[in-house]
Amino acid sequence: MTPAVDPIYLDHAATTPVREEVFEAMKPFFGPRFGNPSSTHRWGREARAALDEARERVGRCLGARPDEICFTSGGTEGDNLAILGAWRALKVRGRTAVLTTPIEHKAILGAVHQTGREGAEERFVAMTPAGVVDVSSFDALLDDTVAVCSTMWVNNEIGTIQPVPKLAEKAKERGAFFHTDAVQAFGKVPIDAQKQPFDFLTISGHKIGAPKGIGALFIRRGAQIEPLMHGGTQDRGRRPGTENVAAAVGLARAAELTLAECEAHCARLTRLRDRLEAGILEKIPDAVVHGREAERAPHILNVSVPGTDSESLLMALDLRGIAASGGSACQSGSIDPSHVLTALNVRPDLASAAIRMSLGVLTTDRCIDCVIEIFPTLVAKAREFSEAQ
Ligand SMILES: Cc1ncc(COP(=O)(O)O)c(C=O)c1O
Repeated sequence: MTPAVDPIYLDHAATTPVREEVFEAMKPFFGPRFGNPSSTHRWGREARAALDEARERVGRCLGARPDEICFTSGGTEGDNLAILGAWRALKVRGRTAVLTTPIEHKAILGAVHQTGREGAEERFVAMTPAGVVDVSSFDALLDDTVAVCSTMWVNNEIGTIQPVPKLAEKAKERGAFFHTDAVQAFGKVPIDAQKQPFDFLTISGHKIGAPKGIGALFIRRGAQIEPLMHGGTQDRGRRPGTENVAAAVGLARAAELTLAECEAHCARLTRLRDRLEAGILEKIPDAVVHGREAERAPHILNVSVPGTDSESLLMALDLRGIAASGGSACQSGSIDPSHVLTALNVRPDLASAAIRMSLGVLTTDRCIDCVIEIFPTLVAKAREFSEAQ
């Protein structure tokens, strides 16, 4: 097999390369500015100042105050801290239920199941076939016993955008906390904690050009959470442990760059995604694009071709130098069909044929041309092969 001209990376929803500007901003903290922000001497004070500044800058990107930003190790930790922390803080007040959607990332679903083991009643909202929360189901399940609701803003597998501000408003009216996983949403939808009444919001650095292992949880002033870890006073005791100053500085830089460029970047991705989608549908008219009926973020295209399976297609794409994914990265290597597509009642044969192509900084028109050319030929071969079986 000949590879595509250059390797083509269509897995930006899994992770993104660290931006040069971010790397440069972080460098001094691996060298002369190595201090521990808890130390009182000059090295410590210097590190503390950098950390405080990073907190302020990340806060500004979310419309938040610095003390509302808690640095985490990434999306998974932020999601767990919000769900478990809020549940453990509120359950003592007679709020016994946790409300979420069946299409969340496993970081949320795992945390919600943990609240279940701790006595919570787990409630799952119905979804429309297009992949959006059914608001009437949300209304029916939201009552005064709900401690915390969590709805992702942009789905990581099919890209559908959820009506987060509206749902957060409803939760507020009922006195429940509202969390949103905005890991795939930051830089793709407008986020403003001053105007939108969510209590907690998770972002992750490595999806926006910062390194892996850093993220932030917005915690609205006054919203209580129990920490997951114990033993230190860092971050007001919400997240004990010596802070990763370099990565926090990197996150601040990446978040600012992402927002400064988001309009142009989203317009570019929308154009490329639409070209890719149209090109695939033209050559494979029976391909099914998931989430197409809903409003979608511009960087994710999820497509199933009847008569193929995602594992073999991904392998064939990889042999041609094209990196895509079968759903979320955490699912790679597992042959279970996507829980997201299953929750949306997608036919099992289509669910196990799903290919997620996610676009980003590395995607060019040339990449899209190559994929439009190569993907249908691989599909034709896969279909021939499965018919011969
Ligand atoms: C929607 C969503 N939430 C959470 C995560 C987990 O983030 P992290 O890899 O930073 O732990 C991901 C990563 O794929 C994601 O897409």
